[in-house]
Amino acid sequence: MAKLLGGRVETAETSEYGNAELHMDAPNSVLFRNVPETTVCWMSHRDRISVLPPGFRVTAHTPHCPIAAMENAARKLYALQFHPEVLHTPEGAGMLTRFVREVCECSGTWVMDSYLEEQIKSIREQVGGGRVLLGLSGGVDSSVAAALLSRAIGKQLVCVFVDHGLLRKGEAEQVAAVFGPGGGFDLTFRPVDAKERFYRALAGVTDPEQKRRIIGEQFIRVFEAEAKALGSIEFLAQGTIYPDVVESGTGSAGAVIKSHHNVGGLPKDLSFSGLVEPLRPLFKDEVRTLGRTLGLPEQLINRQPFPGPGLGVRIVGEVTPEKVRIVQEADAIFREEMERFGADAGAGQFFAALSNLRSVGVMGDSRTYDYAVVLRAVQTDDFMTATAVRLPYALLESVTNRIVNEVQGVNRVLYDLTGKPPATIELE
Ligand code: XMP
Repeated sequence: MAKLLGGRVETAETSEYGNAELHMDAPNSVLFRNVPETTVCWMSHRDRISVLPPGFRVTAHTPHCPIAAMENAARKLYALQFHPEVLHTPEGAGMLTRFVREVCECSGTWVMDSYLEEQIKSIREQVGGGRVLLGLSGGVDSSVAAALLSRAIGKQLVCVFVDHGLLRKGEAEQVAAVFGPGGGFDLTFRPVDAKERFYRALAGVTDPEQKRRIIGEQFIRVFEAEAKALGSIEFLAQGTIYPDVVESGTGSAGAVIKSHHNVGGLPKDLSFSGLVEPLRPLFKDEVRTLGRTLGLPEQLINRQPFPGPGLGVRIVGEVTPEKVRIVQEADAIFREEMERFGADAGAGQFFAALSNLRSVGVMGDSRTYDYAVVLRAVQTDDFMTATAVRLPYALLESVTNRIVNEVQGVNRVLYDLTGKPPATIELE
């Protein structure tokens, strides 16, 4: 703003990263009303404004930044150099609120209930008496989309849930319990057991990318077969949420369809006359709030992200039904113990994976040559970077003991301490 409006910006002699003391220079500024004369803010910069643009006044400074905030109230232009949106700027949320309410004059009447009503109405208008196909993965977004569409159009909504045999233990049953008959949602539920088909296609394949491709392709084929069997369906629904829209960088409904597992598009020859995306303007936390409003179980709403290719990317090397069983059982134990220890608070994502390492062990009097399970628990803000969580030793020991005792085919348990980068969160 300073540069564009005729001021000057230069590289500062001293950069400011982290907490900085913020001093108010204009307590009568709308943004800073009721803010103490001195507070703290979060800075992250090496530049500073050296000359104010005409018509502006300085409203705050820090020791190393003489113009940390400026404004031209007549033109309703306000600029902050610090980050008001982070928790490290305790007065920041208030500044944003005053900007939105008093400068922009927004009234703040938007509530989730009115969004829900609006969407129900607009879905009914768009769809009329037609049928809508939704690929349900059991993840948060597609589940909330299903619950919302069910409210709007009931049985006209057809939810296809593909079990590719790479789900976590009990997951297919959990999805069926919520969305299947008796689950409380009025919709047409079509579970597809495609386990054998996926296992056949994956037999002998060890390359991670090839595995992902195969899983993606098979998924499309299964979905396509289901859609054909269902006869012509007018609409396709997707649980696209706002970050997907931003990430894909397109704003049109004709954009590449993001299948629920992000490993390929849906078949081109499946034609739909319309796309229904009722979560498109929402952020993840809003999707969760909507899910609660719609009565989805908390367990489903707070679910960790689970990759579309599922356990396929948590089994290093060839996928076999035997390896799937091992990783499912080990993962279930890890989840149970995490819950028991109440230790998952810091971990944004945690799971058991199966290394391709087999090593020698001893059980009773006999020698074993079994697999090593890898435990992974990461703390992450955005899943782009991550660090391993310092899990309590007692928890790690308990998980290890239970896995080697209860899961046949495992004689070693390892904890992955690697961050991302250089490792990724998933093993493949
Ligand atoms: P990585 O392994 O790349 O994972 O560090 C980052 C996040 O993305 C998830 N992930 C996927 N999600 N389809 C998905 O929908 C995928 O193919 C996929 N691969 C990884 C992963 O679980 C983590 O949350």
